[in-house]
Amino acid sequence: MQKWVVANWKMNGSKNLLNEYKNAFAESSNLIICPPFVYLGEPAGLKLGAQNIYQQPKGAYTGEVSAQMLAELSVKYCLIGHSERRQYFHEANDIVRAKAETCLRAAITPIICIGETLEQYEAHQTTHVLEKQLAECLPNGTGFWVAYEPVWAIGTGHTPTIDEITAVHLMLREKLPSTTLLYGGSVNGDNAAAIFAINNVDGALVGGASLDVKAVEKIYNHASL
Ligand code: PGA
Repeated sequence: MQKWVVANWKMNGSKNLLNEYKNAFAESSNLIICPPFVYLGEPAGLKLGAQNIYQQPKGAYTGEVSAQMLAELSVKYCLIGHSERRQYFHEANDIVRAKAETCLRAAITPIICIGETLEQYEAHQTTHVLEKQLAECLPNGTGFWVAYEPVWAIGTGHTPTIDEITAVHLMLREKLPSTTLLYGGSVNGDNAAAIFAINNVDGALVGGASLDVKAVEKIYNHASL
């Protein structure tokens, strides 16, 4: 079974990196790249995702980008509610939900990110926090993906144990039987095989390692089980 690899460049990357991706991967692959907005217009021959979207259809919202505009560029996926958006841009659950609904109306698949902080993890509140985020962030119906990204695992080199990821993804699967479920947080070429082997993990959301095409190739090779 081929699992998904979603590359989240964050505010990194360059035209050169985009060219490296074009040479390494084809549109038919299970790889989605989420570069900064400015690179989405390049005819990449790759599956494209955005890192953010604005929830209003159009209007006087300087600096924002609408779902229609992204759809015009053949963007088929969009990260929503990444913890960096929540932390630095104060996106609360109601905004996350509105953005996800906006994506669905434009036939863009929202990849809705959820995850607990280190403090919540240490206080054994993970399940409670995730259930609240699911209740408040998910739109009605189907068509969205969910990415479990523990905030304390993002960019830190720390990951939950295989058992912990297994337990969270089982909980998610029971609530969302037909939803694509990703794990994200310090996925790299060395730990990808073990993470892809977990039941109910349909793919990985990769940040730091996605800036190195060789590392992405290594991760991608493990994604085909
Ligand atoms: P990381 O980031 O792989 O650098 O931990 C993951 C993410 O933020 O999506």
